[in-house]
Amino acid sequence: MRDLFCIFAILVCLLPQSVNAQATLLRAVISRTDTPQLWDDAIADFEQQNPGIKVVKEIAPNSSTQFHDLLTQKLKNRDTRLDVFFMDVIWPSEFASAGWTLPLDRFFSTAEQGKFLEAPIAANRYRGEIFGVPLFIDAGLLYYRKDLLQKHRMAPPRHWPELVEQAKTVLAAERDPHLVGYSGQFKQYEGLVCNMMEFILGNGGALWDEERLVSAVQQERAKQAVRFVRDHIINEISSRGVLAYEEPESVALFAQGRAIFHRNWPYAWRVANDPEQSRVIGKVGMMPLPAFPGGKGASTLGGWQIGISRFSKIPEVAWRFVAFMTSHQMQKRIAFSTGRAPTRKALYTDPELLAQVPWLESMLETFKQAVPRPRTPVYAPLSNIMQRYFSAALALPGSKIDQRSALAARDMDRVLDLLRETAAP
Ligand code: GLC
Repeated sequence: MRDLFCIFAILVCLLPQSVNAQATLLRAVISRTDTPQLWDDAIADFEQQNPGIKVVKEIAPNSSTQFHDLLTQKLKNRDTRLDVFFMDVIWPSEFASAGWTLPLDRFFSTAEQGKFLEAPIAANRYRGEIFGVPLFIDAGLLYYRKDLLQKHRMAPPRHWPELVEQAKTVLAAERDPHLVGYSGQFKQYEGLVCNMMEFILGNGGALWDEERLVSAVQQERAKQAVRFVRDHIINEISSRGVLAYEEPESVALFAQGRAIFHRNWPYAWRVANDPEQSRVIGKVGMMPLPAFPGGKGASTLGGWQIGISRFSKIPEVAWRFVAFMTSHQMQKRIAFSTGRAPTRKALYTDPELLAQVPWLESMLETFKQAVPRPRTPVYAPLSNIMQRYFSAALALPGSKIDQRSALAARDMDRVLDLLRETAAP
């Protein structure tokens, strides 16, 4: 009997691995992209290089806010069927403080971290440890119809009021009922906070005072910027549809040739120059976002990282996936096929990549200067309050911005009070 068992055991060891070992399942929640083939190919390559590992992917909703809800639900439940996940740049502090993400210091050395741009690395650090590896970086940019501005003898706008004036002039002259002046992201979700932060900072305001931990949305400069967006950007040069736009809808409008100016992340360049999606190929200019007169233009720092769940039973395997996805080679592939900007510094001098994505080098400075949204474990509730406030303030021409901002500030201060209490000695 014992001999039989030994023979059986030897036979099992000799069987090919696919039959012998049950594959280890690595469950990953990843972002939606307009080039889904990219993730499928990447996963196939990873599986080929890592025999015995099978990646089960779940594609999250496009909206960062909905993605956050899906992920935090799983993490709150300590779901062990989740190993790795993409994270928006605003989540690592929250996830780390909740104990949901694994500190990665034992895998991700300081020397390796040094190969990445500083801002995304800083966003992934919490209380001295690192919780994610930056996959791509985002910063708000302004796209414009080069051909239309040239036709009407205009240089790219130096500040927001000039942009509005230019749009009005072009709209009046073109008399195209399908053309609008501006397309951005004004739906009630995280993208709205990114857009509004850029206007507010460009007017010398702030969302909140990070040192004193008090809200700043009720301050005059912040309110002025909100009023300007409502009265001029939305009511004068956009259609009301913009109040329901996330990134995909807003870039689609621009790529169809139906907007003069467009605010988006770097990937919109590829969309606007993609023969399958665009009618404005070669007609598009791209530049840092303007400010208000006398102010300094500000671009929100965005971007995505990959983290490992603290409840994963296979963190080593998960790390192999993270390292693969954020490698030099993979980031280059992502930049080629989606136009997303790499987080590895070396790629900004890679001749092959620069030949394909020529704007990359000139935008590096904008990425480096992009302003992070405040890094705090309570970012999500604060953002939620701001999303509701901005959305209500922009929706109606006569909205009461003084009152609404005061209410939002009061709610934000309640959340910030908690932070102040926990920070107190
Ligand atoms: C992009 C950015 C992200 C931001 C989101 C808002 O995905 O990378 O940081 O929160 O847009 O819509």
